[in-house]
Amino acid sequence: MSLLPMFLKEFEIGGIKINIEQEGNVGIGGMVWDAAFILSKFLAKHQKHVFSNVKNVVELGSGTGLCGIATALLNPNCQVTLTDHRSHISLIDTNIDCNCLKNARSKELDWFHPSNIGKFDLIIGTDLVYDPTLFGPLLDTLDIVSKPNSLILLCNEVRMSRDLDFYKMAQERGWQVTVIPSEFSDPENRNPESPVIRFVKNWK
Ligand SMILES: C[S@@+](CC[C@H](N)C(=O)[O-])C[C@H]1O[C@@H](n2cnc3c(N)ncnc32)[C@H](O)[C@@H]1O
Repeated sequence: MSLLPMFLKEFEIGGIKINIEQEGNVGIGGMVWDAAFILSKFLAKHQKHVFSNVKNVVELGSGTGLCGIATALLNPNCQVTLTDHRSHISLIDTNIDCNCLKNARSKELDWFHPSNIGKFDLIIGTDLVYDPTLFGPLLDTLDIVSKPNSLILLCNEVRMSRDLDFYKMAQERGWQVTVIPSEFSDPENRNPESPVIRFVKNWK
């Protein structure tokens, strides 16, 4: 018997109930990190603005998939691709099925060897910035999945000053990085240590 059993948790995002299985054995993404909840609430609050003209969305490092699943439920007209290491794909599939989603799918995507899974209107990611060895590969992956006018929304808990290097590296690669003021986040679910950050590229 596993000492780390699966356990189900219910979240409420934008009035929608979302069931998420968590699984300790799959790796660091086997539990829902706070940033996933914060960005999901942000997307629900600003859904009309964020999802207008968005037909496809990719989530990087989905973990359990909460934020990608919330996106698919909030915007049934868009196709959402949830990605992570192979070790997390079966948990993501379980959670897609748990929420009876037809407009979401999983895809294996390793930032060190990013396959071409397409270009997306909206790219989301939560709690992806914690290990400096991942910063370069994650930025490479953002370039691969984005196209002119893609919008990237990330929410990462800033735990150490070195985490800020990620945003400096992004600016050096041509991304315009904007911290969205916390008053735009859900009042009960905002945290100055986990800001929502917008990346766009000045495509010319
Ligand atoms: C801290 S967890 C966050 C999970 C989820 N986004 C959340 O907020 O609940 C970091 C996620 O990034 C994924 N990740 C880390 N390195 C990766 C890589 N090289 N390629 C793809 N995913 C990676 C992990 O597998 C994990 O799911």
